[in-house]
Amino acid sequence: MLEIKDSVAVITGGGGGIGLALAKHWVTNGGKVVIADIAEDFMKQAEEELKALNGEVATVVCNVTDEDDCAKLADAAIEKFGQINLVAPFAGIIKDGMMLSPDRETGKVKRKMSLDAFQKVIDINLTGVFLTVRECAERMINNKCKGLICLISSTGSLGTAGQINYSSTKAAMSVMPKVITAEFFRRGLGDMIRCVAVAPGYVGTPMVKKAMNQKALDMVLSQIPIGRLVEPEEVASFVGDLYRNEALAGDVFFIHGGLRLGSKG
Ligand SMILES: NC(=O)c1ccc[n+]([C@@H]2O[C@H](COP(=O)([O-])OP(=O)(O)OC[C@H]3O[C@@H](n4cnc5c(N)ncnc54)[C@H](O)[C@@H]3O)[C@@H](O)[C@H]2O)c1
Repeated sequence: MLEIKDSVAVITGGGGGIGLALAKHWVTNGGKVVIADIAEDFMKQAEEELKALNGEVATVVCNVTDEDDCAKLADAAIEKFGQINLVAPFAGIIKDGMMLSPDRETGKVKRKMSLDAFQKVIDINLTGVFLTVRECAERMINNKCKGLICLISSTGSLGTAGQINYSSTKAAMSVMPKVITAEFFRRGLGDMIRCVAVAPGYVGTPMVKKAMNQKALDMVLSQIPIGRLVEPEEVASFVGDLYRNEALAGDVFFIHGGLRLGSKG
């Protein structure tokens, strides 16, 4: 079993939502964190909250789609704390919409998802993860750091209407742990650096709360057997469990309160 105490977590999207919840979980368990986010103001606030918990914290302004920013983030973690033990590339966005929206009256397509809406989500949720993981794992290997790469997939990886961009990136997060685990295994690194993905359902963060009106939220809640959204802290605690348990590698672990398991019969 690995211990969180004294270990170093690099968390992108650490300025808010699930990333910040994970950073708080890490420092309250004696770990150190490097949080990275594109939103400097969120990150300042997050830094204060983490310091109030007596956390050892470094902040890096980083756009995960920028190769140099990701390299600087990984360097900053090594310079400040000498190691990286958890990589949590949690920065992500949604830009929902139907690929094609035919008009109900005429039957002709009146709107389609723009290339920009598709590409932006791919850039941040997929390319950004690749860059963050590649740069951090390089430093982990070169500095002989033991630990976990924990990607964040979603129940959207199974296919959600209105999210062809987002669902595609989250499906990619489900396959990456297999690829990375197999590659490290080939090089004799399988016990040093594990890779998994956590796949939440609907979590009560700004991503969900801002994107949904009350009617949409009520519809979602009616499909969750536990009767509520998953708390960001519950995802954070689960990532801690995945980190500690060294038998877990190469797979995707769902946390969704029973979503998709409902029976109305
Ligand atoms: N909230 C959910 O229900 C849910 C469910 C499954 C998976 N997820 C995933 O969890 C992760 C975190 O989501 P959240 O709900 O906490 O969202 P959030 O919007 O609360 O936080 C996302 C953070 O990412 C940052 N970010 C956005 N673009 C960035 C960029 N280019 N570079 C660096 N940082 C950037 C934002 O500033 C923000 O602080 C995402 O990958 C999301 O897809 C969320």
